[in-house]
Amino acid sequence: MIHRKLGPSGIEVSAVGFGAWAIGGWMWGGADENQAVAAVHAALDHGVNLIDTAPIYGFGRSEEIVGRAIGDRRERVVLATKCGMVWDREEGDFFFHSNDDGVTFRPAEKKVYKCLRPDSIRAELERSLQRLGTEQVDLYQTHWQESTTPIADTMAELTKMKEEGKIRAIGVCNASLVHLAAYGPIDSDQEKFSLLDREIEQNGSLAYCRRQGIGLLAYSPLANGLLTGKIGPDRQFGAGDLRRGNRRFGKSNLEQVAAMLEQIRPIAEKHRATLAQLAIAWTISRPGVTVALCGARNPQQATENAAAGDLSLSPEELETIGKIVHL
Ligand SMILES: NC(=O)c1ccc[n+]([C@@H]2O[C@H](COP(=O)([O-])OP(=O)(O)OC[C@H]3O[C@@H](n4cnc5c(N)ncnc54)[C@H](OP(=O)(O)O)[C@@H]3O)[C@@H](O)[C@H]2O)c1
Repeated sequence: MIHRKLGPSGIEVSAVGFGAWAIGGWMWGGADENQAVAAVHAALDHGVNLIDTAPIYGFGRSEEIVGRAIGDRRERVVLATKCGMVWDREEGDFFFHSNDDGVTFRPAEKKVYKCLRPDSIRAELERSLQRLGTEQVDLYQTHWQESTTPIADTMAELTKMKEEGKIRAIGVCNASLVHLAAYGPIDSDQEKFSLLDREIEQNGSLAYCRRQGIGLLAYSPLANGLLTGKIGPDRQFGAGDLRRGNRRFGKSNLEQVAAMLEQIRPIAEKHRATLAQLAIAWTISRPGVTVALCGARNPQQATENAAAGDLSLSPEELETIGKIVHL
């Protein structure tokens, strides 16, 4: 497993991280808790040390499952969670309605707001620490950016948390270049990035992070599973699964992606690797990317994904993969 420093924090992280969104079930058609715990254990046993979760992932459920999974091995984990998506107060920017399955397009029991007010993120941190069963979060990230709280106020509170020892490093997610500059000295930025989602290479964010020495966590490196090549046209997605009815997972797109993946299959076969592993290896090879945060719902997926951190592809192979697989 390749290890890298996470921005100025100096924290050593595995280049393949474990993303704990799907194991919370919310927006993923539910999740099996025992499989979820086993997935976290498998990831850790195969060299992954970074686990990324968030309060919103199952309204606390993902954090609780992660807490349960790492209870007896906390010292082996770089634990990342987030703040700024709340359902206990109507302050900040309204984001969406949700029920326990997922986002709804009409009013539902929960109203989710993007809120980065100092008192709100402070209360969120305390709840996260409790759910995670720990006294310190290694990386604390603002989950989405909002328009009602000055970034300086949010940053001042995050800095205070760091001084108090409740968090070790500060990160942001889903941030524009303007946000990044306004935050000042942060350790990481977390953005969507995969073979099929290359916006940060085009909008300057990745180059900015690289120049500033900010760690970059690439989220959804498998494009929500699409790049594994294992989602066929007959796959049914459960209630609330973000892929259900999503055009990206519609028949014509699935066929287009499958055709591209077939073209890179010889590279996978040559290395006795899977398509998922090629996609992850490509992501962590991109200059400026520190970690690929890979979601996994069971030990098999977690083990397969972790092994991508040991896959060594030539510059020519990486270039071929990047040229063939794109949207
Ligand atoms: N900051 C943010 O706003 C943000 C947003 C999104 C994600 N994230 C982070 O990034 C992490 C990863 O992103 P993601 O969960 O959206 O997507 P992903 O890693 O691109 O895909 C994960 C999904 O793909 C399938 N999968 C994974 N490994 C597989 C394998 N080896 N073989 C077959 N299928 C496999 C699983 O779903 P099925 O088994 O159901 O097919 C899994 O849930 C999240 O968990 C979260 O930590 C952050």
